[in-house]
Amino acid sequence: MITFTFNGVELTAREGQSVAAALIAHNERITRLTRAAGKPRGIFCGIGVCFDCLIIIDGQPNQRSCITEVKAGMVVAVQDGA
Ligand code: FES
Repeated sequence: MITFTFNGVELTAREGQSVAAALIAHNERITRLTRAAGKPRGIFCGIGVCFDCLIIIDGQPNQRSCITEVKAGMVVAVQDGA
């Protein structure tokens, strides 16, 4: 097991899990808010195609959580708009 933070809260994950899988394991479903309306979005395709799961990882926005492997110490946050 490893630990990472999501919106400032420390969470655990299994090594090799995607960020999305780790978040779902903690019942966290929202990865971003839409640019215009601020509507919540999360995992849709789960295979890196739809870009609905964009999230901020270690300060870098627009990362696809479904195809990014979670790492120890990673800092993950919901992306608000673009
Ligand atoms: S859920 Fe579709 S790209 Fe991540």
